[in-house]
Amino acid sequence: MNIKFLDLNSQSNKIEKKIFDSIKKNINNSSFIGGKDLIEFQKEFSKFLKIKFCLGVANGTDALEIAIKALDLKKGSEIIVPANTWISTAEAVLNNNLKIKFVDINETHNICIKDLKKKINKHTSAVIIVHLFGNPANLDEILKLKKQYSFKIIEDCAQAHGAEYNGKKVSTFGDIGTFSFFPSKNLGCYGDGGCIVTNQKKYFFKMKKIANHGGLKKNSHLILGRNSRLDNLQAGILRIKLKQLNKWIKIRNEQANLYLNYLSDIKKISFVKRLNNTLSSNHLMVIKTSYRNKLKDYLRGKGIQTGIHYPKSLPETRLFKKEHYKYCKNMKSLKYNKKILSLPIGEHLKLSDIKKISNCIKSFFND
Ligand SMILES: Cc1ncc(COP(=O)(O)O)c(C=O)c1O
Repeated sequence: MNIKFLDLNSQSNKIEKKIFDSIKKNINNSSFIGGKDLIEFQKEFSKFLKIKFCLGVANGTDALEIAIKALDLKKGSEIIVPANTWISTAEAVLNNNLKIKFVDINETHNICIKDLKKKINKHTSAVIIVHLFGNPANLDEILKLKKQYSFKIIEDCAQAHGAEYNGKKVSTFGDIGTFSFFPSKNLGCYGDGGCIVTNQKKYFFKMKKIANHGGLKKNSHLILGRNSRLDNLQAGILRIKLKQLNKWIKIRNEQANLYLNYLSDIKKISFVKRLNNTLSSNHLMVIKTSYRNKLKDYLRGKGIQTGIHYPKSLPETRLFKKEHYKYCKNMKSLKYNKKILSLPIGEHLKLSDIKKISNCIKSFFND
C-alpha cells in the first residue's frame, strides 16, 4: 500500500493545461506584479466568501501581521490566541509588539469559551479565532463576548477556505479574516500566497497601504508600509483552482463522513468534535488516541502516511515557554497534542483508500 498524506501532483494533473496556459499568458505579457488575474481573483474570492473586500498578500503570516497592524490596537495591549495553532498566529502578535495571552481549546480543538471568559481582561484588545483543521469555532459565543467587551476579532482561516458557520462562510464574522494559499492548503498556489478580507472599507485601505509601501499609488508613501503582494502568476493559478474548490470540499466531506462511520465503534479512538451548525472544509482529519505513536508507526509500516498538527502547543515551545507555560501547563491543549493524529484526506484519495486506512486502524486495535 502507498497512501500519501498529500499529493499535489495528482491534484494538478487534472488542471495542468489550464494552469500552464495561464502561466504562459502572464509570462508572455510580462504581467507579474499586479495585473488582471490578481484583480479578478480578489473579486472572485470576495464573491465566493460574500464579503466586500479582498486583498492579496504574500502569505498567510503576512496577512495576520498586516491585519493586526491595521486594527491600530492600543500599545501594550493583549491579543488572545488559541494555545494550539500554527506558529504564525502568535508570531504576528509579537511582530506587532503586542502581548499574547493563550486561551485553551475544547473538544472542537478551537477556542474554549469558558477559558476565553477567564482570559478576557482590561488589556484585551483583540481575539484571533483560528478555525483549526477547517472546523469553524463557536462564533456565536465569541461574538456575544465581543459585544460585551468590544474587542476586535481576526479570523485566521488559513485552514478553512469555504468552511461555513450557520450557512455563512467563515472570515465574514469578525473585523478581518485572513487566508493562506500555501501549496498544501485546500486552496493553495504554487509557492507562497495569502489574502486578507473584510467588510470594512477603512481596514481594507489601511491594509492595502501597509502591504504596498505605505501608499495606494506608486511613489506615494503615506504611512510606514512594507512589500507584501500576491503575484499575478499565483493569482492566475488560484483562479483556476477556486473553480474546483466546492467540488474538493465535497470530496473531503464524503471522506470525513466515511472515517466517522468506519471508525466510530473503536473505543480507543475519539474524533475532534464539530459543531452542528457548521460545514467543515476538512483541511485535516484528526483523531485522538492514547496509542498515537504506536498507531502512527503501524500505519507507516503499512505504507500509510499520517501527520501531527501540532506536536506541541505553543506555550510548550521554547519561544513561549518562559512567559506562558506556567498558566498554560494544565490546559487540555497540551494533553491533546500527545494524542492527535492527522489521517490522509483530500481529492488525491478514493473512498476505497479511506476504507483501506480505516481497516488498517481497526486491525491495529484488534490485534
Ligand atoms: C492556522 C494557520 N495560520 C497561519 C498560517 C500561515 O500561513 P503561511 O504559511 O501562508 O504564512 C498557517 C499555515 O500553515 C496556518 O495553518
